Amino acid sequence: MTGYDAVLAEAARRLAEAGLPSPRADAELLAAHAAGVERGAVRRAALMAEPMPGEVRRRFEELVDERRARIPLQHLTGTAAFRTLTVEVGPGVFVPRPETELIVDLVASLSPEARRIVDLCAGSAALTISLAAELPGTEVYGVELSEQALAWARRNAAANAGRIGAAGSSLHLLAGDALTQDHPGSPLRTALAGAQADAVVSNPPYIAEGQEPLDPEVRDHDPELALYGGGEDGLRIPAGVTRAAAALLVPGGVFICEHGSGQGAAMRVLLGRHGFTGITTHQDLAGRDRFTAGRSAPGASHPSALRTRRAGAGVPTARPAGQGQNQQGRRTPSHE
Ligand SMILES: C[S@@+](CC[C@H](N)C(=O)[O-])C[C@H]1O[C@@H](n2cnc3c(N)ncnc32)[C@H](O)[C@@H]1O
Repeated sequence: MTGYDAVLAEAARRLAEAGLPSPRADAELLAAHAAGVERGAVRRAALMAEPMPGEVRRRFEELVDERRARIPLQHLTGTAAFRTLTVEVGPGVFVPRPETELIVDLVASLSPEARRIVDLCAGSAALTISLAAELPGTEVYGVELSEQALAWARRNAAANAGRIGAAGSSLHLLAGDALTQDHPGSPLRTALAGAQADAVVSNPPYIAEGQEPLDPEVRDHDPELALYGGGEDGLRIPAGVTRAAAALLVPGGVFICEHGSGQGAAMRVLLGRHGFTGITTHQDLAGRDRFTAGRSAPGASHPSALRTRRAGAGVPTARPAGQGQNQQGRRTPSHE
């Protein structure tokens, strides 16, 4: 039986040869998945030069071959780390990215009293669940068009129901087109029962037509519906989300939208066109323009339904700097 150290070193070499950016981390995470243990146990086994059992080795080698074929690591392990969560992902749902984690911090700082929060284009619900679990006393509504993605979201919501409940929050996942959720009778309007949202967030599809993502993991495995924003500039869906957000928010409510690194200026124009004020583009941890936020203008929407979060609920602590990497310690390419 060969030791974990030698098996991992050889696997990392083969993964590097296939052009993977984090070969050692991938090898350790796949070995952990094959052995049914945490990554730390694999690192310890490697340090102690413990032998890798034959069955684990066979499963591990299969996983390494699949990863060499650029199947996303998260599809092989079946999970993705997002802030404090581990969510289930696989075919049919977008793998949540580390940069999107920052939206929770933006909501906490720009709208600390937000009680009703809407996440348009929720995908796996990693962001939706994080908002509910980390911002106490919130009602969070996630809207998703893809039934396949929604099935993953519902599974993740069920797995985290205890944490959401412990935070005194509630989570509502709704099937529907984000662009029409401000219309009377839409699933979101019905769920809000006449109330307006205090904050709307979104990580919509935003890649331009004809622009192919460079990473095979993104190009071949993230659903097209999650990638392409429509139109030559990829901003058809972000524009529709911006319009819907303006109609859904209380006056002074906050809208935060993730976008491509080259779309900040266009997003600022879009938000301006829909009456948002204080429009600012925020950067991701790599210093690239990634989120544009603004405040709904007074009179832009229905009468205020803002209610201060219940006493003692408190504002969440901002994450320490550098936590934009996911818990697995690796970066996943953004969907550009
Ligand atoms: C880039 S992914 C982001 C998913 C999730 N918010 C995240 O950050 O991991 C965009 C999501 O929007 C969904 N989507 C695309 N068009 C939509 C629409 N018109 N209405 C609602 N959801 C839509 C896709 O199915 C996909 O799940």
